Amino acid sequence: MNKALRQAVIAGNWKMNKTRPEAKALIEELKPMVANAKVGVVICVPFTNLETALEATKGSNIKVGAENCHWAKSGAFTGEISAPMLAEMGVEYVVLGHSERRQYFGETDVTVNRRVRAALDAGLKPIICVGETLEHREANITEMVVGVQTKAALEGVTAEELKNIIIAYEPVWAIGTGKTATAEQANEVCKYVRDVVAKLYSKEAADGLTIQYGGSMNAKNAAELVAQPDVDGGLIGGASLKAPDFTEIVRAACQG
Ligand code: 13P
Repeated sequence: MNKALRQAVIAGNWKMNKTRPEAKALIEELKPMVANAKVGVVICVPFTNLETALEATKGSNIKVGAENCHWAKSGAFTGEISAPMLAEMGVEYVVLGHSERRQYFGETDVTVNRRVRAALDAGLKPIICVGETLEHREANITEMVVGVQTKAALEGVTAEELKNIIIAYEPVWAIGTGKTATAEQANEVCKYVRDVVAKLYSKEAADGLTIQYGGSMNAKNAAELVAQPDVDGGLIGGASLKAPDFTEIVRAACQG
């Protein structure tokens, strides 16, 4: 079974939520609930919560990620945070190319790739988001869009570096809308991404790549999604803000 060749990872993407005291309370609640998880557990939190999260998760199985980073190491980029700054703190993961960044902050395939490069160079593990809009899906160009995003993001990335990358398939129409892709739709596109990676690198590299689904994944629908052969966990928005819901998704992935 190919699923045994890779690790399932459940990652929370808190987006722009939680003050520091709220973050600490959520992590303290979550820690014992996911302590025995056989899958990777990651929380990607706002920059202001990183130190709190790193402190609160010390000695636990919960890994910490940021939600973005700039491509330059340092310099005159007011308001930005660089990959070496995150790495120095002890941050392990970074979400890159999230559709909200693409939609509201002018992120393009080119800038996503530059950020991926910077993250890898700093020793961070990128969680790269790809996904089609409803217009793309209705025009039957989902595979083309997701294929282009995947290839562009991985431009210049070696097979060795690919081992530190997670790809998250997040259909834009399913994010925060309560509309989840069906398990079949999610698997179909995750499998397509794996095929693209197999062509770019090798079957072995593709078999080892963690590919998550994201978009309105919750305690109720997680089990069916993560049981799919090409879905290796999830990137969770809203449901990651409640410890019992997030835990239920982690539990589902342990069985998936
Ligand atoms: P929701 O789970 O809130 O739909 O968000 C998904 C997402 O964008 C995770 O990155």
